[in-house]
Amino acid sequence: MERTLSIIKPDGVRQGVIGEVIRRFESAGIRIAAMKMLQLTQAEAEGFYAVHRERPFFESLTRFMSSGPIVVMVLEGDGVIARNREIMGATNPKDAAPGTIRKDFASSVEQNVVHGSDAPETARTEIAYFFSEMEICA
Ligand code: CMP
Repeated sequence: MERTLSIIKPDGVRQGVIGEVIRRFESAGIRIAAMKMLQLTQAEAEGFYAVHRERPFFESLTRFMSSGPIVVMVLEGDGVIARNREIMGATNPKDAAPGTIRKDFASSVEQNVVHGSDAPETARTEIAYFFSEMEICA
């Protein structure tokens, strides 16, 4: 059974779409195996997005990601990494397909409501950034 990390970003929490995002996952038959709400420090956001350290948007992204509470979840299901990415839509809401979370709720390529791991190895690292194995309900 595959796992992925999902984050509802500060703009999603501020818009009040936590329930709607979770509803979309559960309606698609995806199981939530762990969940918590927390606020990252900018240093913690920098650690999470370390692969983007050289990108021009890194400072702004990590400031945004530490600007308010987020909801982090472990999603579980067959092919859940790809299925989550389909439900989220393209990174830039301008390119996102109709009916996706980012098309419906994102305001910009940075403030795009949700994050999802892009590959199995990334998913393992990202899940371990937020959850111990004991916190994940198998
Ligand atoms: P996410 O899926 O969390 O992965 C990296 C994040 O960086 C991405 O979503 C966006 O929030 C942000 N991002 C990606 N590209 C850009 C960009 N061109 N300008 C600003 N932010 C970006």
